[in-house]
Amino acid sequence: MNDTTTVVDTTLADATLADTRIRDARMLAARWDAQQTGYIRHRAERFDTIARVVAAVCEGVDEPRILDLAGGTGSLAARVLTAVPEGRAVVADKDPALLAIAADLASADPRLTTAEVDLARPDWAEHPLIADAPFDAVVSSTALHWLQPGELVDVYRALPGILRPGGILLNGDHLAYDTHQEATLARIARDDDAEMQESTFAGDTDTWDEWWQAVAESPRYAEALRRRESVWGEALHQAPPKVTLGFHLEALRSAGFTETGTVWRYLDDHVLYGITPNAPVRA
Ligand SMILES: C[S@@+](CC[C@H](N)C(=O)[O-])C[C@H]1O[C@@H](n2cnc3c(N)ncnc32)[C@H](O)[C@@H]1O
Repeated sequence: MNDTTTVVDTTLADATLADTRIRDARMLAARWDAQQTGYIRHRAERFDTIARVVAAVCEGVDEPRILDLAGGTGSLAARVLTAVPEGRAVVADKDPALLAIAADLASADPRLTTAEVDLARPDWAEHPLIADAPFDAVVSSTALHWLQPGELVDVYRALPGILRPGGILLNGDHLAYDTHQEATLARIARDDDAEMQESTFAGDTDTWDEWWQAVAESPRYAEALRRRESVWGEALHQAPPKVTLGFHLEALRSAGFTETGTVWRYLDDHVLYGITPNAPVRA
């Protein structure tokens, strides 16, 4: 009897621990979303647009496969899955801490998995969860500007190889105006960002640094934060040069996407897309 009691107690303790982890991860993810919205005024609308387009492209597909590139805590993947409830999503990212939170969230949703990949490495698409089967949609938000322009081109070139024919890439990001030829709109967009940040962070919402401080206060993510330092090194503090919408669209076309363009836009905040041809693309 004692043995049985011990087993039951242990199981209950495990379940409680798992619940606590999921609750804490959800709290950090909610704070992450609020923090990111301070930098991206219409982030929710951007996500809704991406989710609706993915749902339309996946219509009639039994179990759509979605890849959230540089997905962080997996916010965009989760939003897309609300529009494609029968889908499966892989959240791929380089950051061990963001990915540890994503993995805790995924433990409560069997449709989500996580893959630690560095998109700057040429072999990122060989990760077993990515090479496994073609994706119907690859999505990304506020992330690919972290890549050097040449790395971005290489990532786009790899995508037709992991998307099904007629599959879609949707990338939401700030794509800066040209400060000479589009000087007025560049100023308006910059002022709009500054005003959004000022009003958001005047309240209780975490800034970027405050959010990372909240993660650091959780022993659960201590090891992931240590790894974060070594995985990123100096690259964490170096912003790559900005590239334009035209650069993205040319890179998508030269990668083999036959339909390309902009799905949604607010000032310099864009959701751009590329659709692969209906015949398979040769590597
Ligand atoms: C501002 S966060 C956005 C995260 C998420 N997409 C969102 O919208 O909430 C930028 C993300 O890009 C990821 N990232 C940057 N460079 C990367 C790389 N070389 N490989 C994989 N992920 C990268 C970061 O780790 C981080 O999760």
